[in-house]
Amino acid sequence: MFFRKPIIIGNWKMNKNLDQALSLVKEIVTKDLDESVEKVICVPYLYVNEIRKILEKSDIEIGVQNMYFEKKGAFTGEISPTMLKSCGVKYVILGHSERRNIFKETDDLINKKVISALENDLIPILCCGETLNERKENKEKEVIENQIKKALLEVDREKISKIIIAYEPIWAIGTGAVASLEDAEDMCKYIRSILFKLYKDQANKVRIQYGGSVKQENIKDLMKQENIDGALVGGASLDVSFSKIINYKL
Ligand code: 13P
Repeated sequence: MFFRKPIIIGNWKMNKNLDQALSLVKEIVTKDLDESVEKVICVPYLYVNEIRKILEKSDIEIGVQNMYFEKKGAFTGEISPTMLKSCGVKYVILGHSERRNIFKETDDLINKKVISALENDLIPILCCGETLNERKENKEKEVIENQIKKALLEVDREKISKIIIAYEPIWAIGTGAVASLEDAEDMCKYIRSILFKLYKDQANKVRIQYGGSVKQENIKDLMKQENIDGALVGGASLDVSFSKIINYKL
């Protein structure tokens, strides 16, 4: 079996004021965290600079939850990859279902963002996932294949191993209804098979995460699955017990 370093990522979404954000990060860095796990917290843009200073004392990396694909220009309200780099950001969540559904981001836009992130030396965390209706109609694989192929259009073979893919079934996000271990593994395995078709053996290097109601109680079993290399954690990353999810092995 190919070794892929486990990666646990917190996605705070649009939560916390500055004081709350700083005190949570200050508390997390006091914890003994498993060094064999890669850890990232994706924070609101506004807090990046202050949080980065606190994280410097730890091995937790900083990420954000979106970006625009252009480097600069007349794009009111947007943040560019070069701005993110200049603030020490390393990871960026792209194509989250909330961006796709609430903000109407298309596969084409997400593809441009993935390419731009890679060109600017940021690590994309590319999200995909089906709705409950799509699953009820047994269309989940078709939906995921379509999202992945479109998002990765013209992404080179040399760069694919940098990307992290997060499979987040929409019906499991924020609902407490985690996918069964079998379904989560089956979908992550399917994503790897798509990558094999596109990138041959490079597919073995890509880390695939599961996301959707991940918590302390289910992380260990999820991480035992062969094709699940990490978790993208929403609600359960908002308090200090996130450190227990990171330390799932201990
Ligand atoms: P929850 O962990 O709150 O279900 O959110 C998952 C998610 O959307 C992470 O990006």
